Amino acid sequence: MTRKIKIFDTTLRDGEQCPGASLNIEEKLEIAKQLARLNVDIIEAGFAIASPGDFESVKQIAEKIKGPVICSLARAKKEDIKHAAEAVKPAEKSRIHTFIGTSPIHMEKKLRMTPDEVLKTAVEMVKYAKSFCPDIEFSPEDAGRSEKEFLYKIIRAVIEAGAKTINVPDTVGYTTPWEFGELIEDIIKNVPEIKNIDLSVHCHNDLGLAVANSLAAVRAGATQVECTINGIGERAGNASLEEIVMGLKTRKPFFNVDTSIKTEEIHKTSRLVSNLTGMLVQPNKAVVGANAFAHEAGIHQAGVMRARETYEIMTPESIGLTESKLVLGKHSGRNAFEKKLNDMGYTMEKENLEKAFQSFKRIADLKKEVTDRDLEAIVAEEIYVAEETYTLDKIEIKSGTKVKPSAKLTLIVKGKKKEAKESGSGPVDAAYKAVQKIVGQRPKLVDYTIQAITGGTDALGEVTVRIKKDDRIFTGHGAHTDIIVASVKAYLAAINRMVSV
Ligand code: KIV
Ligand code: ZN
Repeated sequence: MTRKIKIFDTTLRDGEQCPGASLNIEEKLEIAKQLARLNVDIIEAGFAIASPGDFESVKQIAEKIKGPVICSLARAKKEDIKHAAEAVKPAEKSRIHTFIGTSPIHMEKKLRMTPDEVLKTAVEMVKYAKSFCPDIEFSPEDAGRSEKEFLYKIIRAVIEAGAKTINVPDTVGYTTPWEFGELIEDIIKNVPEIKNIDLSVHCHNDLGLAVANSLAAVRAGATQVECTINGIGERAGNASLEEIVMGLKTRKPFFNVDTSIKTEEIHKTSRLVSNLTGMLVQPNKAVVGANAFAHEAGIHQAGVMRARETYEIMTPESIGLTESKLVLGKHSGRNAFEKKLNDMGYTMEKENLEKAFQSFKRIADLKKEVTDRDLEAIVAEEIYVAEETYTLDKIEIKSGTKVKPSAKLTLIVKGKKKEAKESGSGPVDAAYKAVQKIVGQRPKLVDYTIQAITGGTDALGEVTVRIKKDDRIFTGHGAHTDIIVASVKAYLAAINRMVSV
């Protein structure tokens, strides 16, 4: 019989822990909504005790997102568990995920506790968590480097205390697929009680083995996999959801398992997470990279034209990457625009839809055909924005080989026009200095990336910037056929987010 593998998504917790990926509450909600559409089984919405903002976002996700189980992480400490319990309480289905280090190095150096103390704390805290919520998950942190006999002992004890899921993390991405698969087999053999509950795995990617280790664990009998969209997460990241799910689906005869994931939502989810976190997806990334379904070599193209399966082991359609039949242009009206967005899976509030339509019209004037990818960039600009404190009204740039680059720009600030003129080492530098003059702040630019969305010299340029203020990172996007305009729009989007917190 085909086994069902639960997909536990931790993009909003472990994924959000990665440097620079911080998200505000609205963005987390947007991602959680999309994760529900993707049909993940569990959403780890955050670490409720980490900050008031984390608590609030877990709570709002618990209140608003229906379908998946909503989970919060908690150390094996009463205060953490109380916060987690309070935050997930409004959910239809809630879970508390508590953890404590079990490897010699974690126990000795980090916790300064003996194995007996760790065992006792784990049992007490699982019982404590159980007093708030029936669904408790326990993780022996750094299980990949823990002593097996101690692992069996603590797992047995927390199951008896009421844990319903045991998660085995390879916290530092140290193990290999052979070792990790064997660890899962050994746990199943030595802790027979595990058969009645879920056995989960959580692999980090320090050696690039997170997905391989997770798949080896599934083969060995794991029933839940923890993963993140685009594999984002601490250091080298977590196992990537899309790779695990498509691996299990594409090689179903080998794994003989199913997931509940609506794979057609994968591409959109990947784009959303990339847009909101500002973490770009490498073009050659498996499943969701821009080149994942591009056949460049002539011999490959010829093969694919005769029969796709010659060089394609999964279809682009299976991850929701459909070649558009309907291309919009400057004569397309509101209805066609809205229908197109709906077909692409976007539903927008009236006001944002109108703004997106106006952007589309401006771009359609500059560009013959507006493709799906262009529309995604337009939507990314309009749908995920903070309140617009600063809006670009107009900009004039001077640049070239024999002139000092300068920018003269006007922003609309609370209904009033403000103008500034600055020079710089290049047109973007000059324009950003002019923006800083009006805004009265100089947030550090930590990242600036630009990509042409489609081919051709009239392509839309999409700029993503990340700025830093007081150790917080804010991301902004801008899309335009003029890359300086796109750059300023992205910078303003990030600044608007910065000033809205
Ligand atoms: O990597 C890890 O060990 C974790 C645990 C909290 C599950 O993220
Ligand atoms: Zn982790």
